[in-house]
Amino acid sequence: MKSLLKKILFGDTAVTEYSTITIAGDIKEKAYLQTACQAIDISTVHWLLCLEPIVIGIWLQNPEEIKALNTSTRLKIIFTDSAGVNKNTTAVLELHLFNSIEENNGTLFLLKLTKCKLHHLNFIKTRLLFSRYYKKPGLSFKKFKSLVAGYSYPRKVRIVSFKEESYYNIFPMDLVGDISHVNRFVFGLRHTNIALSKIIAAGKLVISEISYEHKNIIYQLGKHHGASPPLIGDLPFKVRQTKTYGFYIPEFPDSYKEIKILKTLNLGSHMLMWGEVINEEVLKPLLPGLYHIHFLQYLHQQAKGFNYPLV
Ligand SMILES: Cc1cc2nc3c(=O)[nH]c(=O)nc-3n(C[C@H](O)[C@H](O)[C@H](O)COP(=O)(O)O)c2cc1C
Repeated sequence: MKSLLKKILFGDTAVTEYSTITIAGDIKEKAYLQTACQAIDISTVHWLLCLEPIVIGIWLQNPEEIKALNTSTRLKIIFTDSAGVNKNTTAVLELHLFNSIEENNGTLFLLKLTKCKLHHLNFIKTRLLFSRYYKKPGLSFKKFKSLVAGYSYPRKVRIVSFKEESYYNIFPMDLVGDISHVNRFVFGLRHTNIALSKIIAAGKLVISEISYEHKNIIYQLGKHHGASPPLIGDLPFKVRQTKTYGFYIPEFPDSYKEIKILKTLNLGSHMLMWGEVINEEVLKPLLPGLYHIHFLQYLHQQAKGFNYPLV
């Protein structure tokens, strides 16, 4: 009976928490910041940076947009499944501004989620999915909705490396913002991550762009290997060392950037790290990357006939 119900409601797609996809062309989804006076397309300048609470970072350079954000008491982010702010809405997030990082050429605004409304599926299907597949101790329906909202826009997965004397760590991250057009990067790293305090103390890390073909290795690296990562020779791939820092990266990235940490900020479950790109090496042409979206977003796009390839 249960499997029949699942088939009727969700077809043959295996239910997962996040769907791992690849995107060859442009991202179809859009993100709009609704201020008191205008809707700003923030699709390429917004990033999920913390999960508890949900914190979204937005980089703005236009003085009018900066003023609009700073003077608005009510702020909303509207995710849509394709271009157009008033149609195809998948999630509406209400947020408040709690901090910002100002630079000469722009500001990173940090907005904390207060509540959200989902429109991926109808309410009954959403509730059924939650109670049948996601509900667990510590995950309320409210919390579940906030994660779905955060992953209603594809989040690119990259590999982070750190090294200090004999200690090294290589692990995946998707809470990352690429603002390299102004030589900046922003990261959301969990306080439980063993390397966090070392990265902050050294003020250095390396970020690598990886194609989706290496998904399995990426997930192996995501497994908590704690304080003592395997010997370099025992890794399931060869490594090379980066030009300036000499950190280990897998041999297969398309490019890497060496980052100097300028500032850190505690967001809750994750620490924000604000960094400057001090060196970039392009190793080969950029191949399509690996992205995360929530399963509800995948189902929604599938129902609309424009879902990305699952990998
Ligand atoms: C695809 C993927 C993306 C991840 N993104 C993040 C992230 O953005 N921030 C984070 O703190 N942890 C992230 N993680 C979890 C870390 O990679 C994981 O905590 C780390 O590998 C554990 O290392 P440790 O045991 O050495 O602390 C991600 C894991 C996976 C599989």
